[in-house]
Amino acid sequence: MHDFKYRHSELYCESVNIARLAKKYGTPLYVYSRKTFLDHYRKLQAAFRDVRPLICYSVKANSNTSILRMLVKEGAGLDIVSGGELYRALRAGASPRKIVYAGVGKTEKEIEYAIRQNSLLFNVESLPELRAIDSVAGRLGKTQACALRINPDVKAKTHKYITTGHKQNKFGIDIATARNIFLNRGQFENLDIAGVHTHIGSQIVDARPFVNAIRKLAGFVRGLEAGGIRVKWFNIGGGLGIIYSGERPQTAQEYARAVLPLLKKLNARIILEPGRFISGNSGVLVTKVIYLKEAPRKNFAIVDAAMNDLIRPSLYGAYHEVLPLKSAPYTTSKKIRNYDVVGPVCESGDFLARNRRFIDLQEGDLLAVMSAGAYGFSMSSVYNSRPRAAEVLVDAGRARLITRRETYSDLVHTER
Ligand code: LLP
Repeated sequence: MHDFKYRHSELYCESVNIARLAKKYGTPLYVYSRKTFLDHYRKLQAAFRDVRPLICYSVKANSNTSILRMLVKEGAGLDIVSGGELYRALRAGASPRKIVYAGVGKTEKEIEYAIRQNSLLFNVESLPELRAIDSVAGRLGKTQACALRINPDVKAKTHKYITTGHKQNKFGIDIATARNIFLNRGQFENLDIAGVHTHIGSQIVDARPFVNAIRKLAGFVRGLEAGGIRVKWFNIGGGLGIIYSGERPQTAQEYARAVLPLLKKLNARIILEPGRFISGNSGVLVTKVIYLKEAPRKNFAIVDAAMNDLIRPSLYGAYHEVLPLKSAPYTTSKKIRNYDVVGPVCESGDFLARNRRFIDLQEGDLLAVMSAGAYGFSMSSVYNSRPRAAEVLVDAGRARLITRRETYSDLVHTER
């Protein structure tokens, strides 16, 4: 599943001792395994090889340029949601012909940037957006290819903040409106409305909601084709869940087995947009215990990483396993205590883990917050004026600093 394992009671990333990295680069520190990233990408590629999909890694999950470059070199396309992500994608050497652009609030400036750069497809989320893209493309004298993001109105069992394919969510276009758009596509003189897209949510561990959504979308496409409308692109989004603790998510193969029979019947080219599946288990956040505060009702391990470094526990109540870099074997003489692992930020919601058992935890100990490769650094902030962490990528026994730690002067360098 990943390449973070104990060797002689010390936690390693591939063949590199993580404690050594913490010593060299300081904490809090994100550490990533190149091998884990590529293994997950390749697993998906192999599972779907019958339809040779375009796999557009979702940049928002982990947007580091070195990581994007590594996936682009492997043949990945990229799924973006902003001008900033387009900038990163191009900087990482992505071919614009493999870039798909989603998001409900693309501004005119962003639309112009993406059209000028010859992006492959816009995943369009509303009628007014479609009109805006048409108008910008007309002004630039170009024809832009678009897919309609369909909201299939299916329920995906996941956290309410990360479900996106239900009719109450702000995402996508309902099927009836989408059908009308396709039927009247001639109105949009500067657009080639050539595809459908859906993305029903994130951290989905069961293939059923995907199958339901794809079945609806495939039926919709068959209807269009019966009316003589050709659909060239069929984008099934991302959303594959991973293991944080006890989940038993579908594997890439199980996912493919469930959805391929539907996809193979289509004449369209398939696109996938995985984010978490590729990056989630590929990174950990390393942090140091500053104080152990043993209060009457609760014990706190106060660490040097906080909600500004990893917001998922605070925002979604997300569970991340926390492992000591040096695992102390249990002996009866050792102190076993439960701790809340909390950061220095001035909010009670600033916690990384709650009520976790540690053997003989000491001040100065190093801990790894596991499965922090997706929506970790990319959602980090400088709240409480805490400079952002550094990031290190391990590759075949060597570690490379891919983001240096921010300094105090970085905190204010855009302020006038
Ligand atoms: N495609 C679209 C259009 C998306 O909006 C997303 C994620 C993805 C693909 C990739 O989804 P994934 O394969 O990673 O599930 N911050 C939350 C997750 C938000 C997901 C947003 N959209 C978290 O930390 O759990």
